[in-house]
Amino acid sequence: MTDQAHNLRNLVEKKRKEKVETILKDREIKIYCIASGKGGVGKTNVVVNLAISLQRKGRKVLVIDADLGMANVDVILGLYPNVTLFDVFINEKSLKEALIDGPEGIKIIPGGSGMIKMTTLDTAQQSRIAEEFIQLEDVDTILIDTGAGISMNLMSFIAFSQEVLVVTTPEPTALTDAYGLIKVISELQLKKNIKVIVNRVSGKEIAVFTFERLRNTVEKFLKIKLDYVGYIIDDIRVSNAVMDRSAFVLEYPNSIASQCIEGIADTLIGKEANAIKLRTMSEVYNRLIKIFG
Ligand SMILES: Nc1ncnc2c1ncn2[C@@H]1O[C@H](COP(=O)(O)OP(=O)(O)O)[C@@H](O)[C@H]1O
Ligand SMILES: [Mg+2]
Repeated sequence: MTDQAHNLRNLVEKKRKEKVETILKDREIKIYCIASGKGGVGKTNVVVNLAISLQRKGRKVLVIDADLGMANVDVILGLYPNVTLFDVFINEKSLKEALIDGPEGIKIIPGGSGMIKMTTLDTAQQSRIAEEFIQLEDVDTILIDTGAGISMNLMSFIAFSQEVLVVTTPEPTALTDAYGLIKVISELQLKKNIKVIVNRVSGKEIAVFTFERLRNTVEKFLKIKLDYVGYIIDDIRVSNAVMDRSAFVLEYPNSIASQCIEGIADTLIGKEANAIKLRTMSEVYNRLIKIFG
């Protein structure tokens, strides 16, 4: 009888441990930076739709619009922010004031257009933003949308993120610029692995072919390993949704483009980040300060 009770207690204890472990595992914070060499290849659309898809799969997603030149996450989602990242840095607005709710429960920190230069924050500003950042508890996935082109700001966001997702199309210009970006990341030794999404393709074969072309060149000349995470079909409904100021995964949930996004979300969730594991927003913030401070 006592043996049985003992076994039962052991079992309960084991279950409790397992539960805590899964909660901890689930609470690991992943930061993805979405970048491209050439502009207009679909980064913002990837960010917005992927954010919604990941949220639907149980992630708690925060989108940071870090396209300091032409921020438009809010535009695609039909949101009208009063306060932006620009005001947080420059006008002493609080992060809470800038934070807005997007569809399906995603959170968004909208970008400020015309904010070309990232300002250096003084210690008082740093601790003010740090306090507020740490309070963003209900977040386990951060997607950072960035502007086109290679800049030091972009490199800082890449360094801050655990994973970089490079978006390209099959066009030679987009591929050349993607290579250029990856080359700079490699030379600055910011990452060893980069994930690639091929957008605007007519089918899977073209996507794989495009990825292999890029991989052959990258792995021949650079010390970077590329991972294919998926493709998005070229579909007029993507731009229709933009015209309607909505995300295509909301407007056309059964479209192939939406299925493609879902596939990418599954791949990301399935693949373990090979970078430092972050568990709290204060760890995330400390990482940020090391780069921007
Ligand atoms: N898969 C796609 N199918 C059709 N059009 C697309 C697709 N992806 C992007 N587009 C078009 O390209 C435009 C630019 O996309 P966007 O996400 O704003 O690019 P970026 O953020 O890289 O500048 C969109 O407004 C849309 O019209
Ligand atoms: Mg964009």
